[in-house]
This record gives sequence, structure tokens and C-alpha cells, in this order.
Amino acid sequence: MKALVYGGPGQKSWQDVPDPRIVKPTDAIVRIDTTTICGTDLHILKGDVPAVQAGRILGHEGVGTITDVGASVGNLKVGDRVIISCIKSCGHCTNCRTGLYSHCLGDEGQSGIGWIFGHLIDGTQAEYVRVPYADNSLHRLPEEVSDEQAVMLSDILPTGFEIGIQYGRVKPGDTVAVIGAGPVGLAAIATAGLYGAATIIAIDLDENRLEQAKTFGATETVISGSSGWKEQVLALTDGLGVDVAIEAVGIPQTFEMATQVVRPGGNVANVGVHGKPVELHLEDLWIQNINISMGLVNANTTPMLLKLVAQQKIPAEKFATHRFTLDNILDAYDTFSRASETNALKVVITR
Ligand SMILES: NC(=O)c1ccc[n+]([C@@H]2O[C@H](COP(=O)([O-])OP(=O)(O)OC[C@H]3O[C@@H](n4cnc5c(N)ncnc54)[C@H](O)[C@@H]3O)[C@@H](O)[C@H]2O)c1
Ligand SMILES: [Zn+2]
Ligand SMILES: [Zn+2]
Repeated sequence: MKALVYGGPGQKSWQDVPDPRIVKPTDAIVRIDTTTICGTDLHILKGDVPAVQAGRILGHEGVGTITDVGASVGNLKVGDRVIISCIKSCGHCTNCRTGLYSHCLGDEGQSGIGWIFGHLIDGTQAEYVRVPYADNSLHRLPEEVSDEQAVMLSDILPTGFEIGIQYGRVKPGDTVAVIGAGPVGLAAIATAGLYGAATIIAIDLDENRLEQAKTFGATETVISGSSGWKEQVLALTDGLGVDVAIEAVGIPQTFEMATQVVRPGGNVANVGVHGKPVELHLEDLWIQNINISMGLVNANTTPMLLKLVAQQKIPAEKFATHRFTLDNILDAYDTFSRASETNALKVVITR
């Protein structure tokens, strides 16, 4: 088969590789019908994730059709259309039993690390993929949900919802600020209403992203490049600060921005993946009674979010801005990596 293979920092190719096979009885083989590229894949290609070795097939998002199942797979069969979760879940370790799939102790990839596709084992930017713990890591798809909608449920929608909205403890009537209106920030914006957010403020440097944020449910937008961005945010809250500030960029500056606009007693939910240390101003924050949360997505809400997508309560299809076929995946990478020029949100890649 063909796959997108990482060749070390700065290098990737669409090349012939051996077909994946069932290795353990809990595995399934899935033919990839639709996949996409995540910002994390760009980080890997820059060499920011050294655990990814040359020769690894990238990708941790996908929708496909089961072509083979191991002897102990019970819930799924050949021909089933499925979402591939970006997080493995053995389903029976201590962490899986509490819903903390992000730290699944199953030994596939590495015990304790839930994100393994396109990281510690071969991923989904390929014609076929081997999926460990298939019964728990795949979700069967109803006919009314399209591949394009479903692929947003592998990673971005659960990430924005779980690590932004749930960890941020959004409640009815809240004012929520989302810093960074990329796919993940937009996923938080699109799901903030599930817990009753009244005002949703999207904050970004990029005007196009803010325009898109409005279509996902942002009620206000603030350009953070402008001086006075903070005053603009505070003015929307009668000067009090927001109830929940969600960081969805992953740089020290935006984490600090979140701590600057949250009200006393509020929540800062960090979603961004940080590569550098962040200064935490406890000398100012200790007296503010603020909760700070962070984490890797568990993707344990994917089945619930799937029901909402099926009922058109979450506009998952809106994330898809560009379309490619697998054999043009290098063009998809080019478009996605120049998002500020191409206005790409998610590039959808189909077989
Ligand atoms: N916690 C998790 O499990 C998890 C899972 C997936 C992704 N992530 C992380 O979430 C973050 C967002 O992902 P994404 O794919 O949406 O990223 P992205 O790069 O597409 O979007 C980031 C957005 O932030 C904006 N931005 C950059 N600097 C800014 C600033 N100073 N002020 C305001 N806005 C600014 C950009 O214009 C862009 O719109 C990344 O750090 C990603 O690695 C975390
Ligand atoms: Zn991702
Ligand atoms: Zn587990």
C-alpha cells in the first residue's frame, strides 16, 4: 500500500510500504476512506516530537471501513464504517476504567501514553491502518453522518470540548473567551453552547479566523494584535473578567493572556500543546481563586458528540475547507501548512 512516511525533520514522502496485518487478536485493519492533517503533524515534521522516528507513517485522525478483525474483536465486523479515535483505549486498565484514555496502560505503543497513532505506531495517513484495541478505539458510524463530519470527531471536536469546555467547567450563562481560533479553538467555540455559555468571545490575530469563529457560534470577536485587546475583552464583561478563559494556541503569551482576562473565581483551561516553559504569575494569581486545568484529550466523549453531529447540533462539516485525494497528500500538506494564506481549517483527504 501507499502511505505518508516521516523521513526525519523536514522530510516526508508518499511511498510504498508493506500492508498492515493483524498482530494481536484485539486488532482490526481499517481501509482509510477519509483522513486529515493536524497541527501536531506539522510539529512532528519540524522535529519537535523526537519520539517519532524516521519511517513512521503519520496521522492520528481518520474514518474508514473495516477489512479484517482479530479473533477477539467482538463489537465490530468486516465492512463496518468507523471513526478511528486519535487515542488508544484498551478499555480495561485502571485509567481506561475512569475514562482517562489519554493514559491507557495497555502496552501498545507505550504503556501510559494514549496518543500512539502517527507517533509511536503507524498512523492513518495511509491506505490502510492497524488499529489496536479495536473494540474500544473505533466507533461505528451511522449512515447519516458523512466521512467529512466524522473525521472531525477523531481529535479536534473532543479536544475542544473535553479540555476546553469540560475542564474549564463552563456552566449556563457563562462568558467564555477562547484564545486561538484554529480548528481546536473553533471546536471549543462550537461546543461551548452544550453547557449553556451565553457569551463566547473569540480572540485571534487572524481576521479570517475570527470571521470563521462567528459561523461556529462566537458572539464577539477581538483581534489580539490590536493594543487594547484586553480592555475590549473586559468591556464585554462589565470589567469583571470572563468566567472561563480557554487557551488554544500553545505559546507562553497566550497562556498569560488567559490569566489576564479571567475573573476572580474563574477557570483557565489550557488546551494548547506547549514546547516552552510558561511563567505563572502566582504573585498576582494566588489571591484570585482561579482554577487552572490542562490535559491531553481522552476522546471519551466522541460517541456522545457523534450523536449531536448526527442530529445536526454541531456543525462538524464546517471545519472542512479544502479537499484532496490520498495520492495528492503532499499538496494537502502544502495547503495546510500555509493556513494563514490559504484560509485552511481542516484539509479533507479521501481515497
Ligand atoms: N490538549 C490536547 O489534547 C490537544 C489536542 C490537539 C491539539 N492541541 C493543541 O491545541 C492548539 C491549537 O490547535 P489548532 O490545530 O487549532 O492550532 P492552529 O495553529 O491551527 O491555530 C492556532 C490559532 O492561534 C492563533 N494565534 C497564534 N498566536 C496568537 C496570539 N498571540 N494571540 C491570539 N491568537 C493567536 C492563530 O492565528 C491560529 O488561528 C495547538 O497547540 C495544538 O497542538 C491540543
Ligand atoms: Zn491532532
Ligand atoms: Zn487502557
